[in-house]
Amino acid sequence: MNRYDYLIAGGGVIGCSIAYRLAKSGLSVAVFDAGSAGTASRAAGGMLGAQNEFEFENPLMDIAIESRAMFAGLQEELLEESGIDIELRQAGLLKVAASENDLPALLEQYGFLNGKDASVQWLEPHEVPLAEPCMSDKTAGAIYLEKDTQVKAPLLAKAFLLSAVNAGVHVYEQTPVQQLVVENGQVCGAKTSIGTIQANRVINAAGAWSGDLFKETGFTPPVIPVKGECISIKLNGEAPLKTVFAVDGCYIVPKRNKEMLIGATSYPNSFDTSVTAGGIRSLLNRAAHLLPVLNEGTIERTWSGIRPQARDQLPVIGAHPFVSGLYLCTGHYRNGILLSPATGLLMERFLTGCPETAKRLAPFSPARFLTQKEEATV
Ligand code: GLY
Repeated sequence: MNRYDYLIAGGGVIGCSIAYRLAKSGLSVAVFDAGSAGTASRAAGGMLGAQNEFEFENPLMDIAIESRAMFAGLQEELLEESGIDIELRQAGLLKVAASENDLPALLEQYGFLNGKDASVQWLEPHEVPLAEPCMSDKTAGAIYLEKDTQVKAPLLAKAFLLSAVNAGVHVYEQTPVQQLVVENGQVCGAKTSIGTIQANRVINAAGAWSGDLFKETGFTPPVIPVKGECISIKLNGEAPLKTVFAVDGCYIVPKRNKEMLIGATSYPNSFDTSVTAGGIRSLLNRAAHLLPVLNEGTIERTWSGIRPQARDQLPVIGAHPFVSGLYLCTGHYRNGILLSPATGLLMERFLTGCPETAKRLAPFSPARFLTQKEEATV
């Protein structure tokens, strides 16, 4: 391969979803990952909380709902392309007020979500265990989101990666992209640890690591790492089916075979991947308060992952403000898994010049972070 149409830095669900769509439309694509492709994506809980995650109007919400709706078709498509079942589980999500203190915020969110979608229901404390028999009757109430679903994140990451490879994408793992190669203001490739790779366009989809890439361009996205710890518990007897999400951010995602994934702590500005006793203790206490049956389970494993959070907590998607041919697609923060299908499709449309897509993506443009002085130079 002499020259790729696209070089993508970052082999997580975002990078591989874009790579897959571009390759499917006949373009040549190489994905480079500094480590093992999809490390951060594999750590995710896999919630598709397109309603759960939004408490007020947000330009991302429509895209999140669209992306959630893509999963049923995607499950079949990726199974065909990669042989991997992403284990989509459509059992709904309960967003719970663990105590009276959480009620005002949750009722406000209920008003917002129900005003948009009448299928969103409010459950009084005694109704919560009727909706999910494993739930405690000692909560202060819950929102029931029947459309919020979940997948197994490590399988989704692998399925996107394999589907991209099967569509012709070249994937280079343990191969960091080091520096952009620019001629006359136009990208023509990147220097990597295996040499210079020629490409017409380069996409920075390196998630939490994207802020450190291409500093030489004079603009990098203000994206920080936010570490999160998780634990999985195996139940033998009765097990919940619905995802449970507490207002304080602790969640329990029931996977197949009665594996309960419990997440996640939140430590901004940390690339550290250790798992602390205090973090796990806090998750277990909060989770077992909602689902007492967890106390009977056995601990399977603990791990941590790194979320990419932009300064305003919205993704950063679009053209680099100073360098022609360089694009950013990062900052998906808590919603990388959920947003991965729509992001791949939107990026493919954006990069092939679709004006409606450019308009939809405008709120996420990297240029929103420019200072007035920088804007004047663009
Ligand atoms: N998506 C949930 C989390 O980031 O913890």
